Amino acid sequence: LIFGITGQDGSYLAELLLKRAYNVVGVTRRVSVDTTKRISHILPKIKIVEGDITDAFNVNKIIEDHQPDEIYNLAAQSHVGVSFDVPEYTADVAGLGTLRLLEVIRDSNLDCKFYQAGSSEMFGGKIDTIPQNENTKFTPRSPYGVAKLYSHWITVNYREAYNLFACNGILFNHESPVRGETFVTRKIVIGLCKIKLKKQKTLFLGNLNAKRDWGHARDYVEAMWKMLQKKTPSDYVISTGKQYTVKQFVNLVLKELDIEHRWKGKGINEKCFDQNGNCIVACDKEYFRPLEVDTLLGSSKKAKKELNWKPKTSINNLVKEMVNFDLKKLINDK
Ligand code: NAP
Ligand code: GDD
Repeated sequence: LIFGITGQDGSYLAELLLKRAYNVVGVTRRVSVDTTKRISHILPKIKIVEGDITDAFNVNKIIEDHQPDEIYNLAAQSHVGVSFDVPEYTADVAGLGTLRLLEVIRDSNLDCKFYQAGSSEMFGGKIDTIPQNENTKFTPRSPYGVAKLYSHWITVNYREAYNLFACNGILFNHESPVRGETFVTRKIVIGLCKIKLKKQKTLFLGNLNAKRDWGHARDYVEAMWKMLQKKTPSDYVISTGKQYTVKQFVNLVLKELDIEHRWKGKGINEKCFDQNGNCIVACDKEYFRPLEVDTLLGSSKKAKKELNWKPKTSINNLVKEMVNFDLKKLINDK
């Protein structure tokens, strides 16, 4: 049973589970537009039920009706920047939502494994260990990070208090061609592809100096599944162990698109120009956050040892796959 099946990770996870001959049930929210675009190719093979993780009665009924062997909680308002605008809603979905699921499992005595989609955003701003691992102190710096930290500890708490098979993945950023369009990697890829095709002049971004450890979603959902196949539940950091700035990611995409460029200026005035002197990347205050997590870099030693997991996709191949996908899509959308 997947909560959040319509999201980036939900779509990759559903594919993985189908390949392993699971009966997959996915929860979708009723909204005014179709949200099943990412899973349209597998829709006939999965069962879809309507639900919302903010509704305890609904969550209870879905779990009772389906008696799942494994529950993956991927549902969240997952945008860190947006969480500053909707902090209470973010807490309800990304924090209390997890409690609602755990309570149903506990109360019904269901023999079921539980995966919680934790985040490197929980490490936050006052990081004392480089790279970050399962023992690194959490100092979250956003309403999203704080909500995820509640979910992390309530999952540990239910595991220890009620002996539930519950695991926290502490996943670093992971991307793909179906990444949400307002996350920085996809925004950069779409913006620069449009510039290449002369459909857009300038791409506006926020903090170019933030450092992230970016992997591929396809590799990361495999780690989620592996956690639930272990004999005993535990928590795992999932990351590549390599770090790039937002500006470096821009450079990788420009290289893939064969766009010659040079950077000029500093801070918010830093700009990128093409060989004809056109400004193709600039900063806009709108995209800076009230608080920033400056740097994230993970160590997945424990996952490698205990899950036999390691990332398969390099940053260059990730960029190539994302660029090819969006270029083709933009050309076909003409
Ligand atoms: P995503 O693309 O934003 O997907 C989020 C999913 O949650 C969507 O299916 C969304 O449904 C669903 N959802 C939102 N609010 C809900 C609610 N009230 N009830 C039920 N479902 C709800 O996120 P993602 O990148 O796939 O990430 C999956 C999970 O991993 C999230 O919990 C995220 O916070 C966490 N995470 C992600 C990363 C990353 O780098 N991608 C790293 C660490 C942790 P709609 O389609 O209807 O909006
Ligand atoms: N979104 C966005 N848009 N971010 C920008 C922009 C912009 O225009 N310009 C610079 N950034 C910077 C952000 O300030 C941040 O430092 C970095 O790019 C990455 O931003 P996002 O792609 O939005 O991801 P995130 O790191 O905040 O959060 C993602 O990763 C977390 C794991 O660490 C999300 O997927 C979270 O759900 C996930 O938990």
